[in-house]
Amino acid sequence: VARRILDDIEAQFRLSKDDLVRITTQFLEDFALGLSEYNHPMAMIPTFVTGVPNGSETGTFLALDLGGTNLRVCEVELLGNHEFVLRQQKYKVSEALKTGEATTLFDYLADSVDAFLTEFASAVPSSPTTEQPNPFASPSLTELSPEPAVPLGLTFSFPVEQTALNKGKILTWTKGFAAKNAVGHDVVQLLQDAFNRKHLHVRCVALVNDTVGALLSRAYTSGGCLLGNIFGTGTNGAYVERVENIKKLGDSPARQNGGYMIVNTEWGAFNNTRTVLPTTPFDNKVDRESINPRLQAYEKFISGMYLGEITRNILLSLIDAAPKPLLFNGRSSQQLNAHYGLDTAIMSEVEEAWETGRVPIVPVTVPDWQSAHFTDVDKLSPDDIARLERIRGIIIQRLGLDPADVSIRDAAIVRWASSLVANRAARLSGCAVAAVLVQTGRAKLGGGFATDEEKLIVGVDGSLIQHYPNFNARLRESLRELVGEEVEKKVDIGLAKDGSGVGAALCALQAIKQGH
Ligand code: BG6
Ligand code: GLC
Repeated sequence: VARRILDDIEAQFRLSKDDLVRITTQFLEDFALGLSEYNHPMAMIPTFVTGVPNGSETGTFLALDLGGTNLRVCEVELLGNHEFVLRQQKYKVSEALKTGEATTLFDYLADSVDAFLTEFASAVPSSPTTEQPNPFASPSLTELSPEPAVPLGLTFSFPVEQTALNKGKILTWTKGFAAKNAVGHDVVQLLQDAFNRKHLHVRCVALVNDTVGALLSRAYTSGGCLLGNIFGTGTNGAYVERVENIKKLGDSPARQNGGYMIVNTEWGAFNNTRTVLPTTPFDNKVDRESINPRLQAYEKFISGMYLGEITRNILLSLIDAAPKPLLFNGRSSQQLNAHYGLDTAIMSEVEEAWETGRVPIVPVTVPDWQSAHFTDVDKLSPDDIARLERIRGIIIQRLGLDPADVSIRDAAIVRWASSLVANRAARLSGCAVAAVLVQTGRAKLGGGFATDEEKLIVGVDGSLIQHYPNFNARLRESLRELVGEEVEKKVDIGLAKDGSGVGAALCALQAIKQGH
């Protein structure tokens, strides 16, 4: 019976190549829909950023970043040689701020900027110097903004319907935020009002999503970039689209100018109807109990905020299994019973303990999680047993369980559950990346690249892709299945360093040039 229950769970988390193709095809349909009409969940938001930097841009800017694990205030100096200097301070955003009145949240943001300016920054905007024939070309700051207010770029990592580089209404909150009286309001205005209430001499000149920041930052350091992704607390992507394809812009001047524009897909909301996403009862529970049921479906399968919760639901079902418990002697703990009580970081530690010293999964085509099935514990090598001992220690400590209730087999089951959930997340992530490669005419679904470009550059950021063992390798595996082996030669997926700071600074530069 035990084996059947566990095999059944494993089967629910498996994604075949056909599944991946079906999901990617749906992605392409939803891209087309979102580009042609407003008010679709996957919003395909025009960002009014009409080019990518080349690394020669210069200037000093403030950046404020809300929406990732931390609130951050940064001072960014773009040096103009693909390099930059960044000084930053992180601040915590409490649950009360996330769900209270928006003015209180924005006052806190203004206070953080104030504290940073007082304690850390030189805060003197320097005049950018280079003249480039691209939208990031640098005019003199003093020429364009006679008042010496410090220019600030805001990285706001939530869906915002932008109407200009420095204007946009909040469409909805995601990732556990729910501040009141914010949705429908202009986020730049909300922040500027807070600066004004505090008599801070700071002017918010540009607004940017973290994915756009990742794209711009990777372009700045690498000389070009097609796609910026976040795989962190949430997930999303922004890519460079031909303006003629953004049909919903109609005859607006932005469309008439032609060329390219970065589109923020908001792919976290892909397939909210769940017609192609492989929903299990564990996912349904996550969704039902979330602050935003039936929304952000794709994000709930993929991102760091939810993976621990899916895993917790699997573990609870095994603790409660009939006719007899399959885990921890049927006992649980305060952490295991608490909503969001199993942090994705714990899964990451468990997988890390298992992977350390093992051959990386990269060229292995059989998914690694099949190799140490819980029931085969007896067949494991002494080395594997030692790893499971380490995992057992992590579980006891991090989940607050009684050591007498945690066996080696339990450790194997927790590792197995973690890798099922993370493997599915990484494979699903590959679908979004493949969809962008196909949408932009670079690759063909089913295999093959249709571009002479030597490298297609992708910028990534976020705790999951940075720290979760093998997330990147698993994502690439899925990408290879979708668009072929050539991925290894053609697609350069690399960290977009300090995307929020550098991206916001580059957008501030572009906004100032446009006279905002
Ligand atoms: C950070 C970026 O490194 O990654 C943020 O600077 C971004 O802008 C964040 O939101 C996403 O990752 P996480 O894991 O903090 O959600
Ligand atoms: C959520 C937000 C999106 C952001 C992503 C990553 O999906 O809606 O705007 O880019 O998280 O932080």
